[in-house]
Order: sequence, then structure tokens, then C-alpha cells
Amino acid sequence: MKTKIIKINPKNIEISKIKAAARILRKGGLVAFPTETVYGLGADALNPKAVKKIFEAKGRPADNPLIVHIADKEEVYRLAKEVPEEAEKLMDKFWPGPLTLVLKKSKIVPDIITGGLDSVAIRMPANKIALALIKEAKVPVAAPSANLFSKPSPTSAEHVIQDLYGKIDVIIDSGETEIGVESTVLDLTTKPATLLRPGGITLEELERVLGKIKIHPIIKGKKVKNIIAKSPGMKYKHYSPNADVILVEGAYQEVKKRIQKLVYKHKKEGKNIGVMTANENHEYKADLIKFVGNDFNTIAKNLFKIFREFDKEKVDIIIAEGVSDKGLGLAIMNRLRKAAYEIIKNPRKASIIKIFK
Ligand code: TXA
Ligand code: MG
Repeated sequence: MKTKIIKINPKNIEISKIKAAARILRKGGLVAFPTETVYGLGADALNPKAVKKIFEAKGRPADNPLIVHIADKEEVYRLAKEVPEEAEKLMDKFWPGPLTLVLKKSKIVPDIITGGLDSVAIRMPANKIALALIKEAKVPVAAPSANLFSKPSPTSAEHVIQDLYGKIDVIIDSGETEIGVESTVLDLTTKPATLLRPGGITLEELERVLGKIKIHPIIKGKKVKNIIAKSPGMKYKHYSPNADVILVEGAYQEVKKRIQKLVYKHKKEGKNIGVMTANENHEYKADLIKFVGNDFNTIAKNLFKIFREFDKEKVDIIIAEGVSDKGLGLAIMNRLRKAAYEIIKNPRKASIIKIFK
């Protein structure tokens, strides 16, 4: 398939280009587009044939449901069977923005979107190109992140090209996304609401509106044996670079020592080792050291890009420093934990938790 790349300047959006991409969506084609979080791979959400192509292009398992993107709050009432008061409060406060709400689905939402669940995930993105595209398409747009299944989410059009060129109709290129981690997914079909994926809107911000929220245990990196249908996406190893990720969490002084020891240990095995650090003045010795930023916003923005850079340089192992679970840190840690092959929680006691491998 020939993939068309359409460059759009986010500061001067040419509506003719948006219209051309929207026409392709309406005809059942696949269009990758920027959102404020990561690039999405869009299809007409009400056209099951078009949505099926998303799963094929990404190599995504059919039981992992998709988020439906809208450009007008009113659309929620068409897609959801019930819109609780909590949803209305959150929509008023955080939409457009990086918050996805899981609600009971209406009949118009095809089963292929929800993987057979009776709920649907809906979000109104804040990116102007995304909003214009959805408006011009005049249909809700189903869109997962525009990466191959299990690869890091794309934060630039270049990443989308790496993964999906030749497999989809259009890639809209408007440079790098602002936030860099995906939207927060909040399930409002439970009481209290359940956080299924931490993201661009923090748990603290949500709790200020709703009061106490349940946190799904897997978010904090707990080993959950039978992850049932709640958010099927959770059970898959995710966001992972080709290299094995080792995550070291704990007090910085101990983390530092432990990471350097790990570098030496794996070096002896002849491995090519990368270290990802949140400290500009680190003293690590390794084959490749990347500074990811020292505040949460910068770390979130750089995380997936740096995963991909390490892969380009063909490191075998990425050893990453953990950050705190507060604010946007929870989303960052969730992505690191999901990517990790090994997590070292308490560097001094050497307790190791292994997941997903
Ligand atoms: O920021 C984002 O959310 C990006 C941009 C493109 O909007 N999209 C994104 O989509 O990250 P995706 O498909 O990569 O992640 C969607 C997540 C998955 O973990 C999926 O399991 C969950 O949302 N999800 C979707 N529908 C659901 C539902 N009905 N119930 C529970 N979880 C659901
Ligand atoms: Mg994804």
C-alpha cells in the first residue's frame, strides 16, 4: 500500500489538507494523526470493516479495545448508554484533554471497538489538528496509539513511519507531541471509579474532582495472575523497546550503586548496556547513557523517544532509574514497569520482581 505523508504546521493548520485526510477516513481508510499525548491510528469508529484494518496494521490482538475520539462533547450521549454525573464533571474540567472515560456503551458502538465488552472508552483530544480532523470526518474516530503492537507509542510522525509506513493510507506529520505518554483511562462503570491507566491527567487531579478513586493493582507493578476482562490491554507486555529493560526503584544513592553494579555484571556477559537517567550530573560508566530529563513533564515527553533511540543504537539491555509515583510520575513509572523485564524494588535488599517474560 502507498502511504501518503501530509505535513501540517500546527501553528497554521491548512484546512484543505485536513479535509483530504478526513475524506479518507470517511471512505474507510486509516489515517495516523497527532494528539497531545501520542500519535493515534484512526478509522471511522462506526465502520467495523475500517476498524478491523487497525488491528491488522498494528498486529493488535482483537480482545484489546479501542478508544473512540470525539470533537464535540455531545457525542458522548450518542456513544454511551448512561452518562453519570461524575462523567459530566470530568468532561467539563478536563476535555478536551488527555482523559479517557470508560462508560456503558450504546448500541451504535460496534463490538469490534470494545472487544465484546459492554463498555466504551471515549476521549476528546486537545490537539487542534486531531479536533479538526474528527470534525471534518463527521464521524467518531477509533484510534489506538499508532505503533506496532507492543512497541513504544509514537511521539513523532517519524516513529509512525518506522512502524506503519506501507500499511496505512495517510500519516499526518505535525512534529512532536506535547505530553508524550498516553491519556489517563478511568473506568466510571464501577463505584468508586477505577484508574485503569495513569496518563496525562494525574490521579491527584481526578481525586480533587471525584474523591477517592480505586487504583487497579497492576498499575503499581503488582503481579496479577489472572487479569480478567477489565482492561484487556493490561495483560500484554507493552511499550517495550527491543532491548531488555531493567528498572531500579528506590532511594537515589542506592539506585545509583545498584545500576553501576548491574552494568559491570552484564558487561561481563558481553552485552551492550544503556543507562537511562534522570540526573544530568550522573557518574555512570556504560556503553550509552541517555539523560531523559529531570522533571516529570520532560521525562514523559522523552521516554518513548529514548526507548526507540536505544534500539537504534542496538543496546541489549537498558537499565533505567525509577522516579516517584506522584503526579505524572505514576504514568511514567507505569510505562517503565510495563516495559521492564526485571524490576529491582529495593536495591539494598536485592528483591527482584520479574514480570511478563
Ligand atoms: O492518549 C491516548 O489514549 C492515545 C491517543 C491516540 O488518543 N490512544 C491510546 O490508545 O493510547 P491505545 O489503544 O493504545 O490504548 C487504549 C487503552 C488500552 O489499554 C485499552 O485496553 C483501554 O484503553 N480500553 C479501551 N476501551 C476500553 C474499555 N471499554 N474498557 C476498559 N479499557 C478500555
Ligand atoms: Mg497503545
